[in-house]
Amino acid sequence: MITTQQHAAPALVLDPTGSDRQGEDAALRARGPLTRVNVLGEQAWAITDPKLLKALLMDARISKDAHRHWPRFPTHTQEWPLALWVGVRNMFTAHGDNHRRLRRLVAPAFAGRRMTALTPRIEQITRELLTSIDRAAPGTPVDLRERYAAVLPIRVIGHLMGLPDNHIPDFRRTVDSVFDTTLTTDQAAANTQDLYAILTRLVTTKRAEPGDDLTTRLIQARDTDGLGGGLTEQELLDTLLLVISAGYETTVNLIDQAITALLTHPQHLAAIRTGALSWDDIVEETLRWKAPVPLLPMRYATTDIVLPKSQGIIRKGDAVIAAYSAANTHPALHGRTADRFDPARPDKAHLSFGHGVHACVGATLARLEATTALRMLFARFPHLTLAIHATQLTPLPSFLSHGHRTLPVLLRPEAV
Ligand code: HEM
Repeated sequence: MITTQQHAAPALVLDPTGSDRQGEDAALRARGPLTRVNVLGEQAWAITDPKLLKALLMDARISKDAHRHWPRFPTHTQEWPLALWVGVRNMFTAHGDNHRRLRRLVAPAFAGRRMTALTPRIEQITRELLTSIDRAAPGTPVDLRERYAAVLPIRVIGHLMGLPDNHIPDFRRTVDSVFDTTLTTDQAAANTQDLYAILTRLVTTKRAEPGDDLTTRLIQARDTDGLGGGLTEQELLDTLLLVISAGYETTVNLIDQAITALLTHPQHLAAIRTGALSWDDIVEETLRWKAPVPLLPMRYATTDIVLPKSQGIIRKGDAVIAAYSAANTHPALHGRTADRFDPARPDKAHLSFGHGVHACVGATLARLEATTALRMLFARFPHLTLAIHATQLTPLPSFLSHGHRTLPVLLRPEAV
């Protein structure tokens, strides 16, 4: 509920098929710093201006707790495909003290030093995957998303969480569907049911056979009430769901998009080889240019919020969606070249990991996985090319997940 004029503008309907991320971002920005959008039938304010978005992400008057602060929830959103995104009980949807309590149980496990110590394990998994794809017959396209980009993150998070190997395919399938915005309400509800059955199986398994992993520590926090205030059974399941899904889908997109960016911008790959650019430059610019999570639902105003510079008022109870991708590629942040992949730009500022109290817990891990995946891939297959034209790559069916359905490549085109 902003000014009368903005109020009158019809909401922009977010494209559930994610067919034109760049075009939709441009359309969102063209409507101003914040604009009304239709999110699979629910109304929200999309914030595209980077400065305003950053300020609102820091604003304690904005909550992520739908249970307490979204009047539409749950009565009006039972038939909404994104009900799981807003209804879960974990740090992602918690506010204030509750958020601090839930985040404290997880964040230390992903702290910088622990992640650095994980490097040999990440390299070992990466080496195994490279050996596995290297078995492809010469000249046969290999789907790098399916066989490389998607496998490394789930195996790393599986290692940290103590996921039994035979649970991994079920998690991959159901987590992919959590991010698919073309599912009907019934399909999404069925997937949610499936997911909880898988999570419950994991908790049952780990209760019987505890290990030195985060799942076991969270179960102990639940069962002994000893770690920072305890957890309800629902919070336990939903925290496992969050860490496994956030630690997987997003990083897959980052690796997928970075490989694609390099194969379509060979001059930057050459600059890496001369030392003019680093793998960190590539990863950071990919995060900026192709935000793995382009739009992040939802936040809610806990009171009327008058925006600076007469940008309007967000009324109490209104929903807000963070338009990370549109903000990252906003000319206000990166000038006229904002839409271009340029890892040499000195300032690669972006909001792809969020900002403020809900900022991503796994940013260090994601960066480490992506730089390792790229460095080792291009060392092993220096002449790697796309097996199809870049224009034939198809986007994932989603406005929440920014990657490709497949990434077919030729590992050794020179041998074909
Ligand atoms: C490229 C990879 C990743 C991207 C782009 C990404 C993106 C994000 C974003 C945008 C948020 C903030 C959500 C908001 O606006 O409220 C977030 C939160 C979170 N991320 Fe990540 N993430 C990535 C990798 C990971 C990994 C590897 C983990 C592993 C643990 C992880 C765990 C989390 C958790 C637990 C939160 C919730 C934090 C909170 O609400 O306090 N993420 N992530």
